Amino acid sequence: MQIIVCDDYKQMSGHGAAIVKKLLRDDPSAVLGLATGSTPIGMYDLLVQACADGEISFEKVRTVNLDEYVGLGEKDAQSYVHFMREHLFDKVNVKRENTHLPSGIAADLSAECARYSALLAGMPQDIQVLGLGSNGHIGFNEPGTPFDSTTYVVQLTENTIRDNARLFDRQEDVPRKAITMGISEIMRAKRILLLASGANKAKAVYGLVKGEVSESCPASILQRHADVTLVLDTAAASLIR
Ligand code: F6R
Repeated sequence: MQIIVCDDYKQMSGHGAAIVKKLLRDDPSAVLGLATGSTPIGMYDLLVQACADGEISFEKVRTVNLDEYVGLGEKDAQSYVHFMREHLFDKVNVKRENTHLPSGIAADLSAECARYSALLAGMPQDIQVLGLGSNGHIGFNEPGTPFDSTTYVVQLTENTIRDNARLFDRQEDVPRKAITMGISEIMRAKRILLLASGANKAKAVYGLVKGEVSESCPASILQRHADVTLVLDTAAASLIR
């Protein structure tokens, strides 16, 4: 596991973007596994800039996202499909049909999980970008999730609902369920790039790096992946230094 500790969020975003840019220069038709949330926004801004400058192109890139809230669709500002279009897809030359997220508004959610799992099986990620939940979740795989999970509907924990309430008008508005890529599908990525920023992530970073590999800290499974890069700011890295 490679661990890069940065001074701050800006530097973390720069390191993350540099890794993705290099991958896209080496392999312009890479499959990118992407995350939403506050953490990768700075990195996405830099990728948008690099694309505008002609440094990289998303023309042949395919993307798969980690998760989506159940009940939210593209018209909902808090949906992850909306987030991805706002922060990346609408600002780079990726083809819309090459971008994939699970649908939170599918009529049959178990069929949607099976569809997404089959899609992932056919296009393993060259890199999977991850954020980190303050409870150690990756994707929306909450503590206790079996390591062999594939895409499923998850009941979000109170901790995650509280953490994510900042993006909604009221805590009651945060969906209680989501569809998430399973842990085994995250682990299939050739390379993992996890970004974490802020003191509220320090405990989860400790569990990831130094804790026992246990389903009680889903991110700890990354200790068993052959190619993981953590890009952290000093606050997130404070307990492992
Ligand atoms: C997002 C995702 C989540 C977030 C995590 C951290 O697609 O799967 O695991 O990465 O909850 O969220 P932020 O970055 O908002 O702190």
